[in-house]
Amino acid sequence: MNPSAGVPRITIAEAERYTGQSVRIAGWLYNLRKSGKIAFPLLRDGTGIIQCVAVKSALPEETFNAIRNLTQESSIIVSGKIRAEQRAPGGFEMDLEDIEVVQRVPEEHPYPITPKEHGIEFLMDHRHLWLRSRRQHAILKVRHEVIKAIRNFFDSNGFTLVDTPIFTPAACEGTTTLFEVDYFEDEKVYLTQSGQLYNEAAAMALGKVYCFGPTFRAEKSKTRRHLTEFWMVEPEMAYATLEDVKNLAEALVVFVVGRVLENRRQELEVLERDIAKLERIQAPFPRISYGQAIDILKSKGSEIEWGADFGNTDETILTEDQQRPLMVDRFPAGIKAFYFEPDSEHPEVVLGVDVLAPEGYGEIIGGGQRIHNLDLLVERLKAHNLPPEAFDWYLDLRRYGTVPHGGFGMGVERCVAWICGLEHVRETIGFPRMLYRTRP
Ligand code: 4AD
Ligand code: MG
Repeated sequence: MNPSAGVPRITIAEAERYTGQSVRIAGWLYNLRKSGKIAFPLLRDGTGIIQCVAVKSALPEETFNAIRNLTQESSIIVSGKIRAEQRAPGGFEMDLEDIEVVQRVPEEHPYPITPKEHGIEFLMDHRHLWLRSRRQHAILKVRHEVIKAIRNFFDSNGFTLVDTPIFTPAACEGTTTLFEVDYFEDEKVYLTQSGQLYNEAAAMALGKVYCFGPTFRAEKSKTRRHLTEFWMVEPEMAYATLEDVKNLAEALVVFVVGRVLENRRQELEVLERDIAKLERIQAPFPRISYGQAIDILKSKGSEIEWGADFGNTDETILTEDQQRPLMVDRFPAGIKAFYFEPDSEHPEVVLGVDVLAPEGYGEIIGGGQRIHNLDLLVERLKAHNLPPEAFDWYLDLRRYGTVPHGGFGMGVERCVAWICGLEHVRETIGFPRMLYRTRP
């Protein structure tokens, strides 16, 4: 007879409620310390990690040996009594009574990721397994919290979610970063770079909308901020100006960081994030113009000239000593996409805004006010060598009840990298896609 039959199965996260009771937990062996008479298997189950204590004298020999001989990442179901233990990680331990080994990882093919240091390429090649480690687990938990907070924010502020297509017939963010796909009958389509153009249509129907999905950029940039596939949330508002867009971006960032601090403090601690720095993320964010940013950069030794786009280093210089995100607006028209509304007082600049995260993390949000005049929009399409025919439906939005409107896009991965304090965006998504990585 199985002695653990009838014992409730719980998760490690629920251990507190079961103090003093016998329970079962299904998971994987994270680590094992042992001596002749006692073994301490560390069990993980996706909700947490708990230390188990197996005492030789208290267990059938067969059970104790099975525990002693466990290998890393073997799948096991343990039974035992939960005991509060202040010194233990998580505050609880389990006194082991029984174990069911679902699969013992054989010695001949041991789990490839060991507690020793591995190089990043090795870890990326084993991303499917690396996700089980404590740090990666914490990052994915924070990512989930960020995504949940983003949805919460928009859902409770009058925005309607409208999903935008992934196969698109035209460019939104410039023709040099399009992934082309063979569609049917010799037709070419592109993977979306942004849902913005469709959002603009949806905003004219619903007022305030957002889309949230994967976006693609064939960017040949091998930097710590670039993925070829990333997730972007894009709100769009009818009857809105650049000022409205900036206020919305500020409120979103404050809300998202606040939620992570509220619900994912433990994970931030695992990641050794300086939490005080996140606690300072409060409105108002400093706001400067592109022109002012150029002056600051020059005063700090950059060789950038008015008219040039910021490089990663420029963004780092601008934000390294900032405690809050920095909002930079009014960029030269020449370095921005075709759809930006010109500033009526200085038509050489457009009503776009970038939000740069502090601590040198760079741009996490880009957006602004869109051109709502038909003639000007057609002129700008031509100036960008974009075929107006491909944008005919988009131009309709300026033919039928056009209004000032705007929105932005926030990249989830850059946002998570900043909040978690990571070196590189590759760790912020389950399975990153980059210039030289499409596996696993
Ligand atoms: O500044 P971007 O290109 O803006 C747009 O796509 C607009 N159409 C959005 C809008 O107004 N609706 O991209 C917005 C954000 C960036 O600030 C960054 O966070 C992220 O998307 N992003 C990337 N993240 C990872 N890898 C890349 N290659 C990225 N390119 C942009
Ligand atoms: Mg941008």
